Amino acid sequence: MTAPKRVALLISGGGSNMVKLAQSMSGDHPGRPALVLSNLPGAGGLQKAADMGIATEVVDHRPFGKDRAGFETALQAAIAPYAIDVICLAGFMRVLTEGFVSQWDGRMLNIHPSLLPKYKGLHTHARAIEAGDTLAGCTVHEVTPALDDGPILGQAKVPVRPGDTPDDLAARVLVQEHQLYPAVLRRFLNGDKTPVILGG
Ligand code: GAR
Repeated sequence: MTAPKRVALLISGGGSNMVKLAQSMSGDHPGRPALVLSNLPGAGGLQKAADMGIATEVVDHRPFGKDRAGFETALQAAIAPYAIDVICLAGFMRVLTEGFVSQWDGRMLNIHPSLLPKYKGLHTHARAIEAGDTLAGCTVHEVTPALDDGPILGQAKVPVRPGDTPDDLAARVLVQEHQLYPAVLRRFLNGDKTPVILGG
C-alpha cells in the first residue's frame, strides 16, 4: 500500500467543507489532512483545524494589495515545507493566477456553489433565484487558470423552492457540498476522475 497523499485545505471562512474533508481522511482513505491555510487570520476554520490537530498557516493577502504574484509566492513558500501532494480549495475566496495554478496542475480541486458552467464567480444563489432556476447545486472541479472552470469531478443538485432567499438556498446547497467534496476527493486520490453525481 502506498503512503497516503498529503492534502492541504485552503480556506477563508468558517471552514465547514474543510472540517468534512478532514474528518473523511482516516482509515483506508488515500489522503491525510497535512495543512489548513487561510488568507485571513480571523477565519473561523483555523481554530477548528487546530482542534483537530492539523497544522495551520496564515498568509494574509491584504498587505500585498494588488500584488497577486507576491501573495502567491508567499503562499507557495508557506505550503512548501508540508510536502503537499494535493490542494483542496474549500471556501478560499482569492482568485489564483496562472503562475500559481500551473504549479499545481492536475493536483488542485475547488468547490463552487453552483451547477457549473452556470454562475461562475460570486452571488451564485441570488443569481440562480433571480433567473428563476428550479435546480441549483454545487460543483467540484479541477482548478485551471480560468476562474471556476476546469474539468468537472462532481456535482450535486438541490431544488430551488418558491420563496427561497439566497441564504435559504445556500444552506440547502451547503448540506450537499459536505457530501460531494469528500466523495470526490476520495475518488480523485484513488486516481479516478469519473464525475460523482449526487441528488439526481
Ligand atoms: C462554500 O459554500 C463554498 O462552496 C463557497 O464558499 C463557502 C465556504 O463555506 N466557495 C466559493 O464561493 C468559492 N468561489 P465553508 O467555509 O463553510 O466551507
